[in-house]
Amino acid sequence: MTIRDVSSKPLQELISLHGRSAVVTGAAWGLGRATARRLAEAGASVLIADLDETKAAATASELSQEFGGAVLSVKMDAGDPDAIIAAADMAVRELGSLDIWINNAGIPSHVPLFELSNAEFDKVQAINLRGTFVGAREAARRMIAAGQGGVIVNVASLAGVNGIAAGQAAYVASKHGVVGLTRQMAIELAPSDIRVLGIAPGVMLTEKTMFLADVGKDMAQATGIPGIGGGRLGRHGSADDIARAILFCASDMSMFMTGSTLLVDGGVLA
Ligand SMILES: NC(=O)c1ccc[n+]([C@@H]2O[C@H](COP(=O)([O-])OP(=O)(O)OC[C@H]3O[C@@H](n4cnc5c(N)ncnc54)[C@H](O)[C@@H]3O)[C@@H](O)[C@H]2O)c1
Repeated sequence: MTIRDVSSKPLQELISLHGRSAVVTGAAWGLGRATARRLAEAGASVLIADLDETKAAATASELSQEFGGAVLSVKMDAGDPDAIIAAADMAVRELGSLDIWINNAGIPSHVPLFELSNAEFDKVQAINLRGTFVGAREAARRMIAAGQGGVIVNVASLAGVNGIAAGQAAYVASKHGVVGLTRQMAIELAPSDIRVLGIAPGVMLTEKTMFLADVGKDMAQATGIPGIGGGRLGRHGSADDIARAILFCASDMSMFMTGSTLLVDGGVLA
């Protein structure tokens, strides 16, 4: 297949997700929640797949009230391949299609190298990296069966393109894996009109990551990258700074892009 040329389409149509269905993993809270919100605002039906069942249901109900579209939720552990498969099946069954899959669920890990156990290392890879792989594979299977193409967006990190502060070996390895997987899956899925993009957030403050304001300062000292503390553009990133970039990737606005990971880091690595 050949990816469509959308050059003649009006802007509102390019950014619109009306008639499309999206799964966002880890969207009960934080960046995922903000992403589900922008996708719903753009007209997509959304399935929030998150370990936190109660908060996922509350977020789904809030978004569906705010935008009037279908926003559903399901309990899903990104470390459990069967749960990911069940969420993908649910999206097709309940939303009618699966056009967009956002691999956002991820966990941090702050353990110094020589205290980092094999079990902790494996846990971080199972959720952050294997969860992304299984999510993308299962989404792509269903997109190919439907024959309409699709978009997969993987949330990596600044830690997916650079080493960061001490204690981040498991996390940095998992996020570098996500960036590599994004490149490779883009190559393998291009013939099926499935685009695969990555987003690499810098330090974004959310309900659960306010502590990063201080971690950022530590990282700035440890890495010698001043902007990592939120200084380059005068503030830390917000969840919506990421959500808008993901909407760009998920929509036809980014039609000629695949395989790349976009830094959304407030200029940290500039
Ligand atoms: N916030 C940042 O500064 C930042 C920076 C770079 C990358 N990221 C990445 O962005 C993504 C979202 O981060 P965030 O800051 O919004 O985190 P967060 O902790 O605020 O939210 C994570 C969400 O994922 C869910 N979750 C946790 N473990 C899960 C699992 N095993 N299965 C399914 N859902 C699970 C949580 O319930 C929550 O809803 C992660 O992949 C993270 O690594 C965040």
